[in-house]
Amino acid sequence: MRIPDTSPDLLYLSRNDLGSLGGDHSQPYVDVIADGLAAHARGEYVQPLKPYLRWPGADHIADRIIAMPCYLGGKQPIAGLKWVGSRQHNPVHFGLERASAIIVLNDAETNYPVAILEGGLISGMRTAAITAVGTRYLARRGFTNVSCIGCGPIARMQLQTLLEQFPNIKCVHLFDLCPDAAKLLGALLAESYPDVYFITADSAESAVRAADVIVTCTVTSTPYLAFDWLKPGTFISNISIMDVHKEVYERADKVVVDDWDQSNREKKIINQLVLEGRFSREQLHAELGEIVIGGRPGRENEDEIILLNPMGMALDDIVCARYFYHLAHERGIGTRLPLYG
Ligand SMILES: NC(=O)c1ccc[n+]([C@@H]2O[C@H](COP(=O)([O-])OP(=O)(O)OC[C@H]3O[C@@H](n4cnc5c(N)ncnc54)[C@H](O)[C@@H]3O)[C@@H](O)[C@H]2O)c1
Repeated sequence: MRIPDTSPDLLYLSRNDLGSLGGDHSQPYVDVIADGLAAHARGEYVQPLKPYLRWPGADHIADRIIAMPCYLGGKQPIAGLKWVGSRQHNPVHFGLERASAIIVLNDAETNYPVAILEGGLISGMRTAAITAVGTRYLARRGFTNVSCIGCGPIARMQLQTLLEQFPNIKCVHLFDLCPDAAKLLGALLAESYPDVYFITADSAESAVRAADVIVTCTVTSTPYLAFDWLKPGTFISNISIMDVHKEVYERADKVVVDDWDQSNREKKIINQLVLEGRFSREQLHAELGEIVIGGRPGRENEDEIILLNPMGMALDDIVCARYFYHLAHERGIGTRLPLYG
């Protein structure tokens, strides 16, 4: 077959390329995610439900590949897909991070692919930015104590982002079923934040009881976090989704999600509660974007217990990928790959 004389090409951005564009710091993600959540609230997107690809023999909850497509409107319309793989055994068997990803961006006029980006960094940092935006609206002002349950790569990016965004943090409590993971993460963060105390907790309960802001970053399929552990005024960013007992959804003052339709599926805890007739769209306080645009209130007093349950949206990935794609063009960063030649 004859190859056309002119070949469309696409831009490849590696993790290093993204780092050289500022992608290993939280600020760009926090800004872009706040805009993305606002676009979500305004309905400027198309985002089909994400399919989970699983197969026999890969049976852990974290064994899957997820396809996450999204079209984003606004001033610079673009479409794209995150293709995110996960095997729970990767760290122990292969010395690899559990999750890996690429993001493909497509031009919204031709629908041609225009970029491929390493997706693990964006995926982790955009998730941390969701927690940061959530914390801005839903945590007590001036909070000082943060707890993180599960201390893998996602936890590292969550804490890096919180520490960069909230200089009021004085103490971070870390718990992991593998105590070395908690100690390692504390030691790593202490290099950049010598004035912050990093404490390895001896149980999830003691970590949760100690904090005003809690982030879950485990790979559990069994809830462990009880309502009675939470003091008035706590904000939980339930990143790993399955950690929080059903009673917390029922008894919290406010439950917030990123997207109701994406959250109420796949037998996740919210979905289980809905199927059991114990929770509904009407009981949900808001989608986070509604709070960002001022359509719904965030925290209204010092005592509210607020649960954010962000399932993770393709929109988060595509809005960040779009930002780095345009910045890479401006700065001449990345590798051009011809599509045909
Ligand atoms: N909501 C989102 O948008 C979003 C996005 C990205 C990742 N995630 C989730 O973040 C989680 C963490 O990702 P990761 O890449 O860091 O995983 P990882 O497997 O590399 O690390 C998980 C850590 O949690 C610990 N752990 C497991 N179960 C625990 C428990 N019950 N109590 C305490 N510690 C426990 C493990 O020992 C490990 O150190 C995953 O569940 C992933 O699906 C969510």
